[in-house]
Amino acid sequence: MRYTYDPTNDVFTKTTSGSEEEKRLAGESAALIVEDGNIVGLGTGSTALYAIKALGKSIDQGLDIKGVSTSFQSSQLAKEAGIPLLRLSEVDRIDIAIDGADQVADFNLVKGGGAAHTREKIVAAAADRFIVAVDSTKVSHVLNKPVPIEVLFSARTVVTSRIEKMGGIPELRYSIRKDGPVSTENGNVILDCDFGEIKSPPKLSKEISDIPGVVDHGLFVDMAHEIHIGNKSGVEIKNR
Ligand code: A5P
Repeated sequence: MRYTYDPTNDVFTKTTSGSEEEKRLAGESAALIVEDGNIVGLGTGSTALYAIKALGKSIDQGLDIKGVSTSFQSSQLAKEAGIPLLRLSEVDRIDIAIDGADQVADFNLVKGGGAAHTREKIVAAAADRFIVAVDSTKVSHVLNKPVPIEVLFSARTVVTSRIEKMGGIPELRYSIRKDGPVSTENGNVILDCDFGEIKSPPKLSKEISDIPGVVDHGLFVDMAHEIHIGNKSGVEIKNR
């Protein structure tokens, strides 16, 4: 969820790209895959929200599952929805992870618009099936959105320099309701790095991961098993 500050009226309003209806359709469609007994990774953001709410409704009707959250936001939503939670450290594998994305090209993603991508990636990688739910505005023929990179606070200047040498344009992500940079739930900062059109996601992913000081980044290469795309006429499901 993003917030835009209107200084004239001193109010914050939620800003989400894409149609709310498409997000709902995609999130609810992804939630339908979950079965009794599953351990389910619960993603973060305005689309995963609909999957979490739908799972809560299914629990009310008897579905027996446990969730593993990817952020404070998804923990809160899961508690509101009545989904029993396991800590990430209590599981060694997950049946299904459901999450949104900022951009999708084939089965590659850019994530981390909510700065939760490090934990989201751990949960997605631990899952037998990683289901991505997006509205139609997220789908692209190529990844070209800035890649959020979570970086140790003390490493931010050296990582910035390395990214610039790779041809990227890094920008420290700033907080809205606090002076200074965003601090992730892991206590680190985010560099949003614009690499233009990403010709080889696997190559760029490895290059970023190899930089000392990088905790993790928002390029999810070939991790998604299924993509549910909400559109005007329903949901398109892409399988590998
Ligand atoms: C959180 O850090 C992100 O990875 C989100 O999953 C991603 O930004 C998608 O969010 P929306 O569904 O709100 O667009």
